[in-house]
Amino acid sequence: MKTASSKSELREIVRQWKRAGQIIGLVPTMGYFHKGHISLMERCRELADKVVVSIFVNPAQFGPEEDLDRYPRDIERDLSLSKDARVDLVFVPDAMELYPPGFQTWVVVEEVSQGLCGASRPGHFRGVATIVAKLFNIVQPDLALFGEKDYQQLQVIRQMVRDLDFPVEVVGHPTVREVDGLAMSSRNSYLSPSQRQTALCLKEALDLAEEMIHKGEQDAEIIKKEMAGLIQGYPETRIDYIVIAEPDTLTPMERVDLPAIVALAVFVGETRLIDNRLFH
Ligand code: PAJ
Repeated sequence: MKTASSKSELREIVRQWKRAGQIIGLVPTMGYFHKGHISLMERCRELADKVVVSIFVNPAQFGPEEDLDRYPRDIERDLSLSKDARVDLVFVPDAMELYPPGFQTWVVVEEVSQGLCGASRPGHFRGVATIVAKLFNIVQPDLALFGEKDYQQLQVIRQMVRDLDFPVEVVGHPTVREVDGLAMSSRNSYLSPSQRQTALCLKEALDLAEEMIHKGEQDAEIIKKEMAGLIQGYPETRIDYIVIAEPDTLTPMERVDLPAIVALAVFVGETRLIDNRLFH
């Protein structure tokens, strides 16, 4: 497995692969790998000849009050797990490499960025879209994988690729979960043992929504209210949002017509967790 910390090193390696006609797959990450990340790499291994993983905790997507400084990092472990996953190249740039002094160009995906996480994290998707656009330009992959756990992020990237004509196929990948159903996340490491139990309320609220939708409930307000009641029954929880929306545009629905996505963000203590479920 190769590693590169500069754009020029990376470009040189990829150029040779492209010359040999190989299909390049990219998995952008912020590191501190769990099985969700690994599963994206494994899927990429099946779809591409060469697998490139980027590890970069992107300052531009964190708000001033957010967890940039304490975001978990373990580069040695990440490199060893990447090797086990048969990754070909890991790109580990520092912030100066990607945001040199004088940087001033941003990618803003408008409507689909506005609700859900975009509403509570202003500027977040501008940071995500910009770094992903840069990674697409640096790596020039044929395809790139993104998890459905960050469903709005996936739709923001799809919209950006359509609107700006990036020659990249965006592949969505199902959410990988712990045995009890908690969606894997690097941020789960912040949870105390009791908060870890409480964190199951996101999955349970989605189970409740599923049950209500299957029974024919179509009033989004009623479903959201029941979900909120369930979550509020747990200690240390604060609901950021619960949204039922059209899956492509993320426009909220009052009357639930399938397909629909139910998405939520909940603070457990200081830790903000997200999850979602798609209904066809
Ligand atoms: P990060 O949170 O490290 O996630 C990297 C990729 O792994 C994303 O596509 C995310 O959706 C996916 N992922 C995370 N948890 C997952 C799970 N439980 N199951 C399946 N996939 C999962 O998302 C980011 O980094 C950043 O915003 C990034 C796209 C790298 C831009 O900085």
